[in-house]
Amino acid sequence: MKINISSQLNAPQAIVYPLLDNEKLTESLSKIARQAGLSSEALQRDFKAGLKEILPVYPARKGLDKVYLIGLGKTPKPMDFIKVFRSFFYHNKKKLPISIAIDLKSDKLESSIEYIVNGACLAEYEIGVFKTDKKEGTDFFSAESALTIYVSEKNKEKAQSLAVIGKETASTQIRIMTLVDAPANRKYPEKMAEYAVKSGEMYGFDVKVFDERECESLGLGALLAVGKGSTENPPRFIVLEYNLSAMADKPLKKIGLVGKGVTFDTGGLSIKGAGSMSYMKSDMGGAGAVLGTIELAAKLKLPVHLIGVIPVTENCVDGNALKPSDVINTYSGKTIEVIDTDAEGRIILADGLSYIKKNYEPEVIIDLATLTGNCIAALGYNAAGLLSNNDDLANQLFEVGQLSGEKLWRLPLWDDYKDMMKSDIADVKNLSSIPIAGAITAAKFLEIFIDGHSNWAHLDIAGMAFGDSEYGSMKSGTAFGVRLLTTWLRGL
Ligand code: BES
Ligand code: MN
Ligand code: ZN
Repeated sequence: MKINISSQLNAPQAIVYPLLDNEKLTESLSKIARQAGLSSEALQRDFKAGLKEILPVYPARKGLDKVYLIGLGKTPKPMDFIKVFRSFFYHNKKKLPISIAIDLKSDKLESSIEYIVNGACLAEYEIGVFKTDKKEGTDFFSAESALTIYVSEKNKEKAQSLAVIGKETASTQIRIMTLVDAPANRKYPEKMAEYAVKSGEMYGFDVKVFDERECESLGLGALLAVGKGSTENPPRFIVLEYNLSAMADKPLKKIGLVGKGVTFDTGGLSIKGAGSMSYMKSDMGGAGAVLGTIELAAKLKLPVHLIGVIPVTENCVDGNALKPSDVINTYSGKTIEVIDTDAEGRIILADGLSYIKKNYEPEVIIDLATLTGNCIAALGYNAAGLLSNNDDLANQLFEVGQLSGEKLWRLPLWDDYKDMMKSDIADVKNLSSIPIAGAITAAKFLEIFIDGHSNWAHLDIAGMAFGDSEYGSMKSGTAFGVRLLTTWLRGL
């Protein structure tokens, strides 16, 4: 699919009109009716421009097969644009003619072009990769199709660059969604490392992979402890570095990203129930977000210096597995008493955070992790938890959440919660004895391992990495964090 930005009407086979529910609607519908040879009364009767409302009509004009009216409601937000266009293109990709146009001129929607293009491109994703009876045949994305977007002449240049961002973002998001959706027998630590290495080669950033022996000599005891139950698929520690400093005239901001990479979380000996254990293939969603952000930053050549640290492991049941009551050593030198082996994400992040702090001293550290069910209890599936020791950073990330559509909501990180993680026998325990405020106490645990860094944010994406969508009947990967972080990086 090729995307063209144009201020001139060409001759598409179908035109899509996204329309706002405002006082201009009647006028716009009359104009569309006139241009397409349709009845203005009929359009006004059958189309109210409510969010997600879609009206396909078959015009009388020669050469124009179809007109789609797409409702945007009164004040659509970025995520509304993305969802409306993703759903429209996904459900219609087999029916769309190969040359279509979207008219953003009439309702002056040019400033949302990034989200519109992003949504349209995300509709290419298909999750049925392991089906053997693949139905052949082309659709709008596999064909030599063209999507023309009409914008006004004065907005053309800006629209062009935003459209590229929307498209490139989608292609990275689809790669990360594919990775998150891959089952655990095809996505173990070594596979994650392969993905990172290939990505670095393709998009131009450095990747180092430490295998279990190198982890041992580095002293990554926390990561190795969680990986003890997986003798066949031992842990990997991945370090990514993207730096555009050589091309900039001043030193660039050094940002550290840490992602939880649990390729499957059985809970370990503190085993989970069978109910939704299969969803735990998505417990590397934080790692995916870090990989995707660095990949996309490199693709877009963002002027920034990024370090990504990804501890990757399975959390499995085995005779060698980590046991509740074990006391383990960590990279930081601090000891952890393991109360519950299912609180494994914070254990591996302990090593990731202290490693990045000690070896890279980034100006900002952000970690992303599918960390707690408690964060889902608090915020549901509409926002990730944001916990930070820096108000400026927290405010920036909150705003970027609103702007990008990947929303964040701040939870407190007060020291009032600190004592709940005190261990009698070690420096800290991995689970509070009282089952309350679990997302916050998890962050208080992590805080110990950033070792006094004053510009850190933790994003608990447990409810956001895997979600409902048109792609399938069960939850699937969302690549949450990629759009959020790249939007933030673009604004630095
Ligand atoms: N990976 C889970 C958190 C999770 C839950 C992510 C649901 C996505 C959806 C994490 O490792 C975990 O098991 N957390 C436990 C911690 C508990 C044992 C303190 C939880 O939240 O139940
Ligand atoms: Mn767990
Ligand atoms: Zn987990």
